[in-house]
Formats: sequence, structure tokens, C-alpha cells
Amino acid sequence: MKLESISLRWSPERFEILDQTQLPTREVWEKIENVEQMIEAIKALKVRGAPLIGVAAALSLAQSAQKGSAQQLLLQQAKQLYEARPTAVNLMNAMDRMTAIIQNIFSIDEVVRTAQNIFTEDVDLCDRIAENGKNLIQDGDSILTHCNTGGLATAGVGTALGIIRRAHEQGKKIHVYVDETRPLLQGGRLTAWELQKLNIPMTLITDNMAAHLMSLGKVNKIFVGSDRIATNGDFANKIGTYGVALAAHYHKVPFYVAAPFTTVDLDCPSGAQIPIEQRAPEEVWGFKGSQAEVFWAPQGTPTYNPAFDVTPHNLVTGWVLDQGLYTQKEISEGILKRGSKC
Ligand code: MRU
Repeated sequence: MKLESISLRWSPERFEILDQTQLPTREVWEKIENVEQMIEAIKALKVRGAPLIGVAAALSLAQSAQKGSAQQLLLQQAKQLYEARPTAVNLMNAMDRMTAIIQNIFSIDEVVRTAQNIFTEDVDLCDRIAENGKNLIQDGDSILTHCNTGGLATAGVGTALGIIRRAHEQGKKIHVYVDETRPLLQGGRLTAWELQKLNIPMTLITDNMAAHLMSLGKVNKIFVGSDRIATNGDFANKIGTYGVALAAHYHKVPFYVAAPFTTVDLDCPSGAQIPIEQRAPEEVWGFKGSQAEVFWAPQGTPTYNPAFDVTPHNLVTGWVLDQGLYTQKEISEGILKRGSKC
């Protein structure tokens, strides 16, 4: 079975990722030959986006199983992949599922089939999110989004960007304001790249322009993705999301978060328990990409570089999940807690 998305190509003979650190300047497909390379790719954000890192890590384990890795080694590799990034719970969910298969019914075919299922299920989950969210967007809407939540972040059409894409495909005339998304520029480099390919009208802004645009009445809806949703509806997403939510609340702009159930952490009662990844100072001192590096801060300047922030549930208008659209009332009644182990 061959699997293909805009950022992953997998077959039993060959596994490749689109190196997202090189976008939009170069479209370079990197061959993945072992789990160590995949861990490096996840840490370096060559492969990124909460759903995609779960899918990619699972396929990396499938490749390892096919190359003859023993059960003990696969379990160890699943643990190393699990720890590659701390915030996106999709990675942990995918590794827990793979670990259970490796531990309980260890067969190469089953390991491969499970990884393939994780990929195809994600395609389906994205599709459902797009369907559940598309009617929130009306003809003439001006939508702001943060980070990259499209095909580059999932195996399918994406989450927040998938909804925007589906509304555009319905023929609605929409305009998208793209937050550049400091420090790694997932908006400026990746979302702009995707929207350009999809012919969706957009305007790129720096992150500190979003509140000003809202004050001018130029944004009437906001859609973002998530790396982890707590059962009370608080959620973590790319740093800067919380500021967007605060400005949206003040200006009464509807603010939606879109994600598959693999992003919901049933063991996490609130945003306070979500682990936040801290990254290297170089990313704040300037910009370090595959093509260029420029530092504007004095060498050695102390930095603070959390990759994510937490948006409290009371700032969210609606949660667009694959199971449906949830309101604040439904979330406060505990709809996300069903099946919770807490
Ligand atoms: O650090 P990244 O680029 O992996 O962060 C990605 C995000 O914050 C996305 O918004 C999130 O993973 C949702 S992707 C569908």
C-alpha cells in the first residue's frame, strides 16, 4: 500500500518527507531510512503539526519493523519518538497505539497496518472537521488564522485551514489574514505557500498587527488549530494564539479552534497541566532557516522561547472536532470528558 500527502510519501520500499524548514524557497523531499532520522526531523520541525508528527512517527516505526527490528527495539524506538516533542498529544496517542500493537500482537503486518490506519484515519478526520466547520464561514468573510494547520500539518486537508479550504471550494468568496507566526514563521512560510497553491485570497501580516486589524473591523472570524485540548476546553497551540484569542474576545470576533479527537487529552483536566515545549534561544535572537540565518540580538542575550501557549476555554466560541461542533455550554457540561480516565 502506498500513502501520499503533500508532506509525506510512504511505501514499503521508500519513505520520504517534505522538509518543511526549506519551504517556501525549495521543495526538497528527504529520504527517511531509520527512526533516528525521523526523531531528528521531528525535533528540527522538518515534519511538524500535531497530527502529522503522530502519523510520521507511526510510519517510521512501521519502516523499522519491516527492516526487521526486534520487538524490544521497536518498543524502545516508540518511546524515543514519543519523547521527540512534548506538547502535541497526537504524537503520544499515536505512539501509545503503536506500542500496544507491538507489545500485545507483535507481527510486522499488524505494526505496518496500524501505522497505515493512523495515516488514513487522519485524512478522514480532517475531512470531517472541514465538513463540520465549513458552514461557519459565510460568503464575504474575512478570516484570520495563526501558524500552519493545513495539509503540511496533517495527512489530509488540515484542521483550521481545511475548514477555510472547504468553504473556498464551496464557492464562498473569502479572504484570509495569515499571521506570520514568530519565531519560526509557519504562517509566512507555510500557510502562505499552501494558500497560494490553492488560489485562496490572502494577506500576510506580522503577529503584532492582528489586534489592530480587529479594531478596524477587518477580521470577522478566527480559526486556529491545536496541539492539545484539555477536557475543560482549554487548549495549547502555537505561541501567539492566546493573544489573538484575547483580542478577538475584546472585539467580539468569533474564535474557533479546530482539531481531531487525537488532539484531545482525556488525562488532562485543564490547560495548566499541558506541558509547553521550550526551544533554543537562536530562534528568538533572529531567524535561522535552511537558506539563511540572521541574528539581530546581541550575542548571548537571555531569551524565553515557549513554542506554545494555552488559550482558556472561556475565550473560545466553538470547538470544531471531527465528531461535531461544540459550544461553550456543551464543553462546560463535560462533553470532552466522556471516556476520561480522570
Ligand atoms: O511547532 P509546530 O509548527 O509543530 O506547531 C504547529 C501548531 O501549533 C499547529 O497550529 C497545530 O499543531 C495544529 S496543526 C493541524
